[in-house]
Amino acid sequence: TVDAGPEAPPTKRSVRVPPGVTVFDSASWNGIAIDSTCGGHGTCHKCKVRVEGQSPITRHDVRTFTPDQIAEGWRLACLVKATRDLQVDVPPLTTRPKAATVGVGRQVILRPAVQKRYVELDEPTLADQRSDLVRLTDAITDLELTADLSVLRRLATVLRQADFKVTAVVVDEALVDVEPGDTTDVRHAIAFDLGTTTVVATLLDLATGTPVAVASMLNKQQPFGADVITRISATMMDEGMLDKLRAAAGDTLSDLADQVCREGRVDPRTVYEVAVAGNATMTALALGIDPEPLGVAPFVMSTAHPPTVLASDVGLDLHPRARAVLFPALGAYVGGDIVAGMLATGMDRDKRTRLFIDVGTNCEIVLSDGDTIVSTAAPAGPAFEGGAIRCGMRAADGAIETVGLDGASGDVALGVIGDVEPRGLCGSGLVDVVSELVRVGLLDATGRFVPDEDAATALPALADRLTRVGEERVFVLHQPSPDSPPEESVYLSQRDVRELQFAKAAISTGWSLLLSELGLEQRDVQQVLLAGSFGSYLSPAAAVRIGLVPKLPVLRIVAAGNVAGEGAKMALLSVRERAGAAALLEEVTYVELSDRPDFNDRFVEQLGFST
Ligand code: FES
Repeated sequence: TVDAGPEAPPTKRSVRVPPGVTVFDSASWNGIAIDSTCGGHGTCHKCKVRVEGQSPITRHDVRTFTPDQIAEGWRLACLVKATRDLQVDVPPLTTRPKAATVGVGRQVILRPAVQKRYVELDEPTLADQRSDLVRLTDAITDLELTADLSVLRRLATVLRQADFKVTAVVVDEALVDVEPGDTTDVRHAIAFDLGTTTVVATLLDLATGTPVAVASMLNKQQPFGADVITRISATMMDEGMLDKLRAAAGDTLSDLADQVCREGRVDPRTVYEVAVAGNATMTALALGIDPEPLGVAPFVMSTAHPPTVLASDVGLDLHPRARAVLFPALGAYVGGDIVAGMLATGMDRDKRTRLFIDVGTNCEIVLSDGDTIVSTAAPAGPAFEGGAIRCGMRAADGAIETVGLDGASGDVALGVIGDVEPRGLCGSGLVDVVSELVRVGLLDATGRFVPDEDAATALPALADRLTRVGEERVFVLHQPSPDSPPEESVYLSQRDVRELQFAKAAISTGWSLLLSELGLEQRDVQQVLLAGSFGSYLSPAAAVRIGLVPKLPVLRIVAAGNVAGEGAKMALLSVRERAGAAALLEEVTYVELSDRPDFNDRFVEQLGFST
C-alpha cells in the first residue's frame, strides 16, 4: 500500500521481485519512493515502512522505533528482505529530497537538464522598451538562455495574458516554453529501457526526483524477429522494413508514455525530456538509422554518440519541444543499455574489483579492478530466454523458475511463476535444474546424463524420472497426470543440457578472458553484479555451481535489477551523471573475443561442470 500524501488516497500495488531483494530496492525498482538519504545503506534510519506479519528485527530497528512500533510491524525498508509474499505499507515522503536514490544504492544530487524559473517581470513602458526576450532573460540570471522560434511565436501573448508572471521552461540552456503563472513544481521526464524483448518506462517527477509510475510491455518489434540479428537481417531483405521497425519502436515508446502518464495522472505536455537506454541495434532502429553494418563483420556503428533529437522524432507525443537523449554505446555489441548499467552500478567509481554480467542472447560483460575497466560481448544464444530448449518458455505464468531435487526422498520442488500448473521451463529454471542434476549426480561433469543402471543404483528415488522422449534421454520435471507419456510432460532433454553448456561456456569464456586481461584470478572478484531481469531471478548458488559466474561465495553475487532503466533515470535527474555516461566511453576498453588465439581452448575448458 502506498500512501501518496494528504491530497491523494493510498494506492495498492502488487509487484514481483526476486527473493532476497530488500523492500527498499523492490520499491525503488518498481517506481515506489521511500524516504532515504543514505541510499539504502542502513545509516539514515529514514526508510520507515510497516510490514504485515512477522519479520526479523535488526539493531537499527531497535534504535529507530519504539517497542510498540516494532510490534506493529514498523521496520527499516532497506533491512527487510523479501523472502516470502509481503504486505508493506509505505508512508508518504516526509521531505522533498534534494537527492534521489537510483541504481545500485547510488545517490544522485538533483540537477536535471530540465529547469524551470518563475519570474514576475516589470511591464514594458516607453522608458523601458527592452524586448520581451531580453526582459525575460534579464530576470533569469543563473541560466544562459537561447530561445527556440516556437517560444518566440508565443512569448508576447503569454506574457501579456499572464500579466508578465510566467515560468520559463529551460532544457539544457534552451528556452523551450513560457508558461503562464508559477508551474515550477510541474516538470516530468520519462526514462526508457528499450530492450530487444521488453521495454520499460519510468515517469519521473523532476522537482522531487521521485518515480511517479512504471510500465512495461513487449517490444512491438517482436513479430519482426526475436533478436537483434533477425531484425537486422529483416532490414537487409526488405526495403520497407527499417521504417516498419522504427514505427514499431515508436509505437511501443508512445504506448508506454501514455500508460505512465495516465497512471501518474500527469499531463504528457509536462514531460519535457526522455532518456532512452538501448543496445546499439535498438537505438539505431528507433532513430531509423540503417543497422546493417552492426550485423556483419567488422561490426561497426554509424555513431557511438547518437544525437539528441526531439521526442517526436522517436514517435512520442509529449511537450512539443521535449527532447530525447539516447545513450552512447561502446561498440556494436556493448551498447547504450550497458553504458547506462555501468552508470547505475558506479562501475567507474568503485575501488573494488567488480564483474558486471548482463545475461541475454548477447551477453555483455564488464570487469573493473578499480582502475582499469574492460568489456566484451559473448554470443550466448537464446537458451537463457527459453529459446532452443525443448520445453523452454519465457519467464511468464506457468514457467518453472526454481527447481530443488532431493536425491534421498525423490522429491522435486518446483517454483512456478503465477503458482499455476507448470507449462515449461524458463532460463532461471533451466540453470536451476541443471545445477541440481549436477549436484545430486544425475548429470556428470561433462554434462551427460549418467547411465540408467548407475542412476538406479545411486539415486533410486529419482531414477524413474530419467527416461526417453523418442531417442533422447530426458529428465521429467512435471507430468500433467500420473499416466501421461513423457512427451506430454515438462522435461529437460540431453540436448537442452548441451544448449545450456554452450551458452554458459560463451559467457564464462568472456569473463575468464577479461580476468586474464587484467591479470586477475576468479577469487579476486569482490562482487558480481547480475544485470537485467534474468540476472535478477537467477539463483546465485546455481550460477556458481554450473560455472556461469566465477567460483565465489554466493554473498558476493548480487542481483542488480533493471540497471539500464536506472541509468536512464540518473541521466534525467542529473546532467553531471549524464556527462559521466559519455565519459565512460573513454574509460572502458573493449576486448574482441573472436580475435583471441586462446578463445577456442578456453571455450572447451568452460563447457564442463567442475564440481
Ligand atoms: Fe537509509 Fe534505510 S535507506 S536506513
